[in-house]
Amino acid sequence: MSQCRVCGASVTLFLDLGNQPLSDVFPAGTPGSEADEFFYRLRVGACTGCAMVQLLEEVPRERMFGDHYPYRSSGSAVMRRHFTALAKRLLALELSGRDDPFVVELGCNDGVMLRTLARAQIRHLGVEPSVRISQTAVECGVQVLNAYFDQETAVRISAEHGPADVIYAANTLCHIPYVTSVLDGVAELLTDDGVFVFEDPYLGDIVASTSFDQIYDEHFFLFSATTVARLAERHGLALVDVERLPVHGGELRYTLARAGKRRAGGAVAELVAEEAARGLHTPEALSVFATAVRRNAHDLVELLSRLRGEGRTIAAYGATAKSATVTNYCNIGPELVSVVYDTTPEKQGRVTPGTHIPVTPAAEFADPYPDYAVLFAWNHAAEIMTKETGFTDHGGRWITYVPEVRVL
Ligand code: SAH
Ligand code: TYD
Ligand code: ZN
Repeated sequence: MSQCRVCGASVTLFLDLGNQPLSDVFPAGTPGSEADEFFYRLRVGACTGCAMVQLLEEVPRERMFGDHYPYRSSGSAVMRRHFTALAKRLLALELSGRDDPFVVELGCNDGVMLRTLARAQIRHLGVEPSVRISQTAVECGVQVLNAYFDQETAVRISAEHGPADVIYAANTLCHIPYVTSVLDGVAELLTDDGVFVFEDPYLGDIVASTSFDQIYDEHFFLFSATTVARLAERHGLALVDVERLPVHGGELRYTLARAGKRRAGGAVAELVAEEAARGLHTPEALSVFATAVRRNAHDLVELLSRLRGEGRTIAAYGATAKSATVTNYCNIGPELVSVVYDTTPEKQGRVTPGTHIPVTPAAEFADPYPDYAVLFAWNHAAEIMTKETGFTDHGGRWITYVPEVRVL
């Protein structure tokens, strides 16, 4: 039995995805290079006290983040636009009118968001433990502190720079099992009328679309309006706004303020009520989700095996961290999917975690095109399909497994 990282009550398992490798460590692919791959057990449960959905086992943060960490936020044009728009909105709605405002971002990665604020000469600090990836941010004029954000780091930042008017985190808070220390830090660092804005994959969308590949080592929590409101309360904060986002297959953007400082908009109560009405956190709903996951996994293996049996060639597109869950849970190796195309230099020439499918530059997709391509980066489907029209013009067919297994 595992204890909730938010409230300490027991967590009830609803889905076991088996032994899994680190999702963002791509072995070199040379003989023996896979021998020291680290595996952990990927099990997900819901807290019997506060309902927070979380992993039962924590992977030490140093194994996930650090200099090998290959994920580059700027790898998608859609995401670049998304973060530029967010930065502009912060400038217009939260920062204008404040005297010398200060913004802190947790997990700033390559500076995709903060570069816009840096250009606008806003005082800012990106907190990013993965030094190598953060060098790109520095080259773009972004101030970076190479550290893990937690309560202690918050005290350091506050002493050096003063309080923050806006604290922001995208696809980072859900990565942090020690979330209570982070929220203590936020409560420490925020100005009296400041806001903590963060966005992460939404449990409601994950359940609705059976996107079980959103579950992996780095995604420790699957947040919802209900559970984030409760989490905030425990730290003297309040959830005052939520916004549905279309990116990464469906996310929520949460706005937290000090309790009593801002009136909550109607969106929070509405979404909390919707989550209750659909029974999102109930054992029944989570068990229905787990059954759908097993069906999708089964259907995917069956489809790929049949196509291979008919002599078709199958590749995949996007060496996502998410796909580590799919390939390892379904046992999909090079005999089913011969190669994964991806634009990330740090992943190319290597093999996928656990299943050891070679990763090759996306620029080589056309020589020659495979008969089928599994869209591992399904969350970037529109961007990729627009760019790769040559594939379907040539008779190629995309395969997806979200929300169900389908040849497109
Ligand atoms: N914000 C970016 C990056 C998300 S990936 C985007 O949305 O695309 C998550 C990032 O959080 C990684 O760059 C990782 O190194 C960083 N990270 C992990 N733990 C952290 C912590 N405790 N404090 C700050 N950053 C952290
Ligand atoms: P993403 O789905 O953003 O995240 P995660 O790894 O956390 O699941 O990863 C997208 C991957 O797909 C990344 O390795 C870059 C790659 N990619 C391409 O190869 N081409 C593209 O056009 C896009 C948008 C992404
Ligand atoms: Zn709990």
